[in-house]
Amino acid sequence: MTTAEPVRHPGGFPLVGVVGAGQLARMMQAPATALSLGLRVLAERNDDGAALVVAQAPAGSHTDLEALLALARDCDVVTFDHEHVPPAHLHALESSGAVVRPSAAALLHAQDKGVMRARLEQLGVPCPRWALVADAGELADFAETTGWPVVLKTPRGGYDGKGVRVVADATQAADWFERLDDGDRLLAEERVEFVRELAVLVARSPMGQAAAWPVVETVQVDGICTEVLAPAPGLSPDRAAEVTQAALRIAGELDVTGVMAVELFETADGFVVNELAMRPHNSGHWTIEGSVTSQFEQHLRAVLDLPLGDTRPRARWTVMANVLGGQYPDLYRTYLHVLAHDPALKVHLYGKAVRPGRKIGHVTVSGDDLDDLRERARHAADFIQGVVDQ
Ligand SMILES: Nc1ncnc2c1ncn2[C@@H]1O[C@H](COP(=O)(O)OP(=O)(O)OP(=O)(O)O)[C@@H](O)[C@H]1O
Ligand SMILES: [Mg+2]
Repeated sequence: MTTAEPVRHPGGFPLVGVVGAGQLARMMQAPATALSLGLRVLAERNDDGAALVVAQAPAGSHTDLEALLALARDCDVVTFDHEHVPPAHLHALESSGAVVRPSAAALLHAQDKGVMRARLEQLGVPCPRWALVADAGELADFAETTGWPVVLKTPRGGYDGKGVRVVADATQAADWFERLDDGDRLLAEERVEFVRELAVLVARSPMGQAAAWPVVETVQVDGICTEVLAPAPGLSPDRAAEVTQAALRIAGELDVTGVMAVELFETADGFVVNELAMRPHNSGHWTIEGSVTSQFEQHLRAVLDLPLGDTRPRARWTVMANVLGGQYPDLYRTYLHVLAHDPALKVHLYGKAVRPGRKIGHVTVSGDDLDDLRERARHAADFIQGVVDQ
């Protein structure tokens, strides 16, 4: 049952509106409760992950301007669970007087990978070689400079590797070019020979306060993040500082408010930026148990311009493994086993229906022995998914 009228905690506490009701909005509820903040999520369906736990979950689509304006009227600030709100709607919200964080201008860099590349290049941030290409001929011209294969991306709307394809020649991209609308282009990037993938998470508030968590290593399989190691093992302090400085600088230059994740590739002699996300991010789920302040609490603090919380880790190592959907819809049974098997491990499930390969939860475990933690996190995630013999 959703409430029609906005409900606030007594004592003058603000109400935060979140567009979208996926797992990120869902994980904002616990810190909102602790901070006495009101939370209202715009949910597409009443069984969206956040709609199952947030009392105030009016129904509406992120593409419906009226629904967005209604959310903004009810709330002190509007923020996001995802980056799919059309830019024109974001500008209309701002023109209506709504407080939108991050702003439409900042968020565009997380919405459009072409805009992001152009801006980062302008700022002198290391990027892969790239070009926007309209047809197979332009792609072939680009590959003249980089060689094949080339990584081809749809600039908008991608997630979990959907919208990313490695192509060995221009014919492999023919179907994508055929489906392009007039005037649209694809982003071509050189395939980076990376040593590993890293991510750094920062938060920045309107008053300009900023904070960063330790740089983490992310492991991707088939374009989907499967594991995060915090902090990134063996990363030199100089490289960690360089990467963190770059992220803080990007946040400042783009005037980001809220949490921002920078995905990076570590190379033999440095790093290049892969992409930006301006919301809590999968690479920061470890912070719920692994840091003094979680990314979800920090995002709420930052968009409300409250003082930011301490980002120090609580343990030497924290490992997070994503739980992907498997063949068995009966999660409750496998989940019971995992709780019994490893009482120190934390399980988060998002209330999503099981579909093979879909991110439906994650597990986190902290301690001193990295190999042991990885093994335990992997076992638990695989077991819940149903990969391990039951
Ligand atoms: N230029 C590149 N060179 C090599 N590998 C790449 C390149 N770009 C992307 N990849 C690989 O593909 C993965 C997904 O790419 P990207 O992060 O751009 O897509 P996405 O669908 O937006 O991902 P997300 O799940 O983070 O939203 C990367 O994590 C990396 O493993
Ligand atoms: Mg990515």
